[in-house]
Amino acid sequence: MTNSDKPIYNAPGNAEKIELLKKKNEEALLGGGESRIATQHKKGKLTARERIDLLLDEGSFQEVDKFVRHRAKDFGLEREHYLGDGVVTGYGEINGRLVYVFSQDFTVFGGSLSETHAEKICKIMDMAMKNGAPVVGLNDSGGARIQEGVNSLGGYADIFYRNTRASGVIPQLSAIMGPCAGGAVYSPAITDFILMVENTSYMFVTGPNVVKTVTQESVTAEELGGASAHSTKSGVTHFSCKNEVECIQHIKNILSYIPQNCEETAPIYPYEFKAEESRKILDELIPENPNQPYDMRDVVAGIVDDDSFLEVHENFADNIVVGFARIAGRSIGIVGNQPQSMAGVLDIHASTKAARFVRFCDSFNVPLLVLVDVPGFLPGTDQEWNGIITNGAKLLYAFSEATVPRITVITRKAYGGAYDVMNSKHIGADMNFAWPTAEIAVMGAKGAAEIIFRKEIMEAKDPEAKLQEKVDEYTEKFANPYRAAHRGFIDEVIIPSETRIKLIKAFKMLENKVDKLPRKKHGNIPL
Ligand code: HXC
Repeated sequence: MTNSDKPIYNAPGNAEKIELLKKKNEEALLGGGESRIATQHKKGKLTARERIDLLLDEGSFQEVDKFVRHRAKDFGLEREHYLGDGVVTGYGEINGRLVYVFSQDFTVFGGSLSETHAEKICKIMDMAMKNGAPVVGLNDSGGARIQEGVNSLGGYADIFYRNTRASGVIPQLSAIMGPCAGGAVYSPAITDFILMVENTSYMFVTGPNVVKTVTQESVTAEELGGASAHSTKSGVTHFSCKNEVECIQHIKNILSYIPQNCEETAPIYPYEFKAEESRKILDELIPENPNQPYDMRDVVAGIVDDDSFLEVHENFADNIVVGFARIAGRSIGIVGNQPQSMAGVLDIHASTKAARFVRFCDSFNVPLLVLVDVPGFLPGTDQEWNGIITNGAKLLYAFSEATVPRITVITRKAYGGAYDVMNSKHIGADMNFAWPTAEIAVMGAKGAAEIIFRKEIMEAKDPEAKLQEKVDEYTEKFANPYRAAHRGFIDEVIIPSETRIKLIKAFKMLENKVDKLPRKKHGNIPL
């Protein structure tokens, strides 16, 4: 009998093999199955794949590791497998730009993180690092896969390690779209921006039950770690979103202002410069009374390209405003004191909020615009005992180490140490402008007069009149921008309505700025 006469094993043909692959693909798409998908929808949540569809440009998603299965054998896991193991990972495009994404699938073991689930996330993080593109994590998970014990904890640590290594190299964004508890919160916490969805997501280190046992406090998951708590009280989340669609839209918006990695610059949007483009409204904005508030966002609107301001941390430490915008089509990061809240004073939260934003911008080559109207640092035992010294120093440090183009506009008050901190010339700002309404001094005129002329005022026949006379004298001498301009600490005093044009020109002039920090391993920012 020759070889060719042997009966042929009835192997599947190509068509059958392709059918098998299609079946497997269909199975993977179902995650934990129809009924769990229905439960997810009933909770008002989208599935992992629906979220990716919303996030990425149509048809751009390329999945990686779709058929990965866990390797665990304990507690019945050897009999329960789902293709993909609770996380959908891969790459695609947002507005034509490459992005890596992982999206946890709550329908598979509650999106819990197994060893293989973690390996999938690590794989795309490694790819993102090699190829210099952002990672977006869509988190919806019951935490460590309880059946896997330390294998799962190790998986988390593998992710934390990569988050840290990637910090400042590629942008990392974390959307919290379901539970996120225990040590699992620390991966998002290391990333650049956290977004939460109101009423369907929460983050905490220990949940309400543990809180009740340890501190006897009764608190709901939402109160303890919902979007509202973290966007207003703790500042953990940068964006609180009404629903998942808004959350995903925010992710796309943020990415539009930032580059793919630390070696690149942000995309430039088409813009036609019009020389006559002044914003007259700014000439009327500063109230005659120096103690009357105004909204620094109106200054921002009068400077940046129309509707381009994307505020970050909107509901946290609202005595300082931070966010991205475009000026003549180019991305900038804005930090501005907000006279409308606590007179724009710098306190612990405002300092840390702004410092972190400044460091993000500097990491990713986003030039900074700083708008100053600050009466100083907030006094009091609460601030001192909670470390306003260390925390205020963070902002000072963040500005001082930033090498991106940095421009300051002083609109009104720039008093005391806060003058120095808010991107003054002395700490390396490139261009410092002041409006004619600027008051650059050690403190407000009344406070100054009361201190330096105390004796004279007390001994005067009419102390009130004397105080006023001294206040006027101090105001005339110091409550203006000209002393600083005489010294060159202010490069130019400008008409408010011309601010936009001045900034367009100054940022263009600084386009090729080269500034390097002294050689070091890394600095030691006061934490
Ligand atoms: C394995 C889990 C799981 C987990 C949920 N599931 N969490 N499986 N490991 N951690 C499974 C459930 O058994 C269930 O399976 C399915 O996911 C959906 O869970 P439900 O409880 O039905 O959903 P829901 O009522 O919405 O409640 C969600 C939940 C709850 C609040 C997340 O499941 C929960 O409390 N899970 C445990 C959370 C936890 O303690 N995790 C460990 C945290 S410590 P079926 O088959 O019924 O669909 C941690 C340490 C990390 O994470 C440390 C890193 C350093």
